[in-house]
Amino acid sequence: MLVFCFGEDRVALSLLDKRWLLDHFQDRVQFDEPMSRHTSFKVGGPADAVVAPESILELASLVHYCRRNGLPYLVVGDGTNIIVRDQGIRGVVILLTIGFNGIDRVEEKDDEVIIRGMAGARTRSLCRYAIRQALKGVNFALGIPGTIGGAIAGNAGTTQGSMSEVVDAIEVFEPSGNVVRYLKENLCFSYRRLSWKTTELPIILAGYFKLRRTDATQLKKEASEIMKSRLAKQPAGSPCAGCFFKNPSSGVSAGELIDRAGLKGESVGGAQVSFKHANFIINTGSATAEDVLLLMERIEKNVFRIFGLHLEPEVKILGY
Ligand code: EPU
Repeated sequence: MLVFCFGEDRVALSLLDKRWLLDHFQDRVQFDEPMSRHTSFKVGGPADAVVAPESILELASLVHYCRRNGLPYLVVGDGTNIIVRDQGIRGVVILLTIGFNGIDRVEEKDDEVIIRGMAGARTRSLCRYAIRQALKGVNFALGIPGTIGGAIAGNAGTTQGSMSEVVDAIEVFEPSGNVVRYLKENLCFSYRRLSWKTTELPIILAGYFKLRRTDATQLKKEASEIMKSRLAKQPAGSPCAGCFFKNPSSGVSAGELIDRAGLKGESVGGAQVSFKHANFIINTGSATAEDVLLLMERIEKNVFRIFGLHLEPEVKILGY
């Protein structure tokens, strides 16, 4: 997921806004669209509008319109690392998964190959592409849900690696309307975070990944081992947002702390701490965003009471 917001002063779309959006995006705009359809948790109230631009020109005109008219907007990827509150999101949600999802090989040098992945392409597609092309570097991301844009914005990673280790450059759409490429040395990655010099992260359009040629059979073997270990340790099948909390810097993982606090299976409404991995909150079927947030608070309070440690959500909480 990646997010960039502007303004909060308007509360709903006017008829003129709706007309403009319909004229420009036809069946690629939905009004009062439940965000539960666009988040892996399957919770969340409606967004005033969800729009899927198909080109930079369309994206530019949408952002320009929103800024000129004081309409809040934000970009979401696959909604795999967000919780949208039950009252929903005011303004325009922009989806890049339809129009910005290509992956291609852009540069070759000795045994290095640069791959460009558009922000709306899935992280799993990037991993599969690299395996097909016998290129090493992104296997660590196998099984990380979501889009490339979201993975870069959150410096997604596992114990085997993180995006910051393979990103060579990124392309962003700046609020001024310019598309600018930033090399890795000018980017400020830290644990599960890409910080920006201004307070707002601009819209990420693409990532350039530096990968290395390798033996295809070895790469496939490594991939299947990673997937096997992930499936053995983490819940699959129930709606969730991956690991819910960041691992604290103290060294003990959030999953272990929550487990040791005796919270596996703890639930609020339809939200439950997974029995398989305690850092996963799952939606057992009928969860609301409020259930998830109440359970989150209960976990935070208990872990603080027992261990004196503050857990920080990795998942971003959006909306009203
Ligand atoms: N543990 C427990 N109980 C649990 C879960 C874990 O005691 O219920 C213990 C494990 O036994 C292990 C330690 O906690 O000793 C760490 O567990 P794990 O290997 O599962 O790694 P993690 O730190 O919980 C991180 C990433 C995952 C990634 C895995 C595997 C974070 C917050 N999480 O999990 O990423 O899949 O490593 O590499 O960094 C995600 O970001 O959505 C995500 C799931």
